[in-house]
Amino acid sequence: MAEAGISWVRIGEFAWSRLEPSAGVFTFDWLDRAIEVLSNAGLKIILGTPTCTPPRRMLEQFPDMLALDAQGQPRKFGARRHYCFSHAGYRAASGRIAEILGDRYGRDTRIHGWQIDNEYGCHDTVLSYSDAARDAFRDWLAARYVTVEALNAAWGNVFWSMEYGDFDEIDLPNLTVTQPNPSHELAFRRFSSDQVVRYHEVQVAALRVRTDRPLIHNYMGRVLDFDHFEVGAALDIASWDSYPIGFLSDRLEASAAHKIRYLQQGDPDMQGFHHDLYRAVGKEGRWWVMEQQPGPVNWAPFNPAPLPGMVRLWSWEAFAHGAEVVSYFRWRQAPFAQEQMHAGLRRPDDAPAPGLAEVTQVAREIAQMPDIALQQAEVALIFDYPSEWAWTTLPQGQGFSYFALMLDAYRALRAQGLSIDILPSTVRDLSGYRLVLAPGLATLPDGLEAALTGAVTLIGPRANAVTPEISIPLPMGPNLAGLDVTVTQVETLPPQIARTVKGGGALHHWVETLEGTAQTSYETDNGQAVVKHTGNLHYLAGWPDATLWARLVADLAKQAGVNTREMPEGVRLRATQTHVFAFNYNAEAVAFDGVTIPPAGVHWWPV
Ligand code: GLA
Repeated sequence: MAEAGISWVRIGEFAWSRLEPSAGVFTFDWLDRAIEVLSNAGLKIILGTPTCTPPRRMLEQFPDMLALDAQGQPRKFGARRHYCFSHAGYRAASGRIAEILGDRYGRDTRIHGWQIDNEYGCHDTVLSYSDAARDAFRDWLAARYVTVEALNAAWGNVFWSMEYGDFDEIDLPNLTVTQPNPSHELAFRRFSSDQVVRYHEVQVAALRVRTDRPLIHNYMGRVLDFDHFEVGAALDIASWDSYPIGFLSDRLEASAAHKIRYLQQGDPDMQGFHHDLYRAVGKEGRWWVMEQQPGPVNWAPFNPAPLPGMVRLWSWEAFAHGAEVVSYFRWRQAPFAQEQMHAGLRRPDDAPAPGLAEVTQVAREIAQMPDIALQQAEVALIFDYPSEWAWTTLPQGQGFSYFALMLDAYRALRAQGLSIDILPSTVRDLSGYRLVLAPGLATLPDGLEAALTGAVTLIGPRANAVTPEISIPLPMGPNLAGLDVTVTQVETLPPQIARTVKGGGALHHWVETLEGTAQTSYETDNGQAVVKHTGNLHYLAGWPDATLWARLVADLAKQAGVNTREMPEGVRLRATQTHVFAFNYNAEAVAFDGVTIPPAGVHWWPV
């Protein structure tokens, strides 16, 4: 590792059965040896708490600690993440193992940071329909609504005679005859996110008093079931696990042509999006890539190898977005168990795998570069986890995804050469931003509208369209002080249908009818308003296709005084204080700005 230029190594995140082979009996000798070997080689160690893999005997102690799926079936032992976030006994056991590790290694100077648990929410584990979750949900509801009458009113339970007489009558919103009350479901999603935060805080508390080293969690791509900003608030550094090729085939709505074009590179925006998102989640913008794909993975429907150059490109892209560290998963391919087909930097026989040479090259290149100095972007995109829960609860049309809408907006901006800051909806200081986009923001939080006044702003579709309890607000949305626009009707459309817009492009999936005196700046071919604005504030009445997004971005950027660029397809830029980086996600070379960037190549210019 040291020879390859690697300087950080994460260990121990799944090792509970070896740390504590029987209850209360600990064996640390193997871990001590590993720490000794690694630190003697000059490597800085991140120690993981092993709570994502409770040992089998834990089930004897807590037979009811498993999560149940929406069908009421247990998510059994035999893999990982077999616990319900609401189980009090398991939560305490997690705190206890964190304390024990903290007592032993918290002041050990060879341990330079801690990873708490591993990938909350992985394998769809945030929503649990267990008895522990049900009981905790009732307590959570009682704390939120105080009286059951208030809950009935907030949810509109008079509809279909769904009224409750007591909090103890309220079940989890699964196995209902048809759709449960969306207020019920949204409350459950909020609660489930809170349970992750509460679970997490126990380990944070255990470690904080035992170590001064940074606490970190490794988030995932497109996992949205808990509010990462809230988990991140208790941590020092955000990190995430980036598997570009796995994500392309596994968790992205895109045409077959797109998936073939980027088969061995990954989507050109998926990584940047998460880099920018997790930079916002990390305290003072501190973030890492904890796991970078180094070769074929095992878990996607199809698992091609990265094009030569991509491991280097992904690494540099992360650094250009401000990553302090890029770490690779994993060092050596494990020849056994679930991930035996998952590549590492070394093969199962310990020979170098193809990714290793690129990692070595990156390490050499970094050593010769000044540290990346970030600068605030001119363009901000507001990301809000509760909006994702609201629209998952009430999609209204098949395939309405808040995340997909956000990624489309992000893609449109990046496709014109822009660098972006993603910001939480709790932001109140937007000074310095010239252009702000907030699509799909279900409920506008108090104070945000006032903060939006300086920049050219695009909000909508579905902006301020529901109350926090997910009912239609009166007066109806978006109800913005500076803009006389009301959404009077909503239509959703099947994928093959689009409403074409004068001048080019179309709305698809989602189309709103607008009323109001604000000026219409875009309209459909049959005269329906698509964008209305007053001054800097623009309301977007639907989900644009790529052509319409491109027009919108160009027009808004112009109004905002932000310079866009014409870019070759699949090339992305990222500006820092000292450099502009270009990333070529294509399998062919491209000519750009007087240079030829090779396939899967990176180029940078000093500014
Ligand atoms: C996740 C996990 C790792 C491993 C990889 C496989 O990121 O954190 O333990 O399972 O996926 O790609």
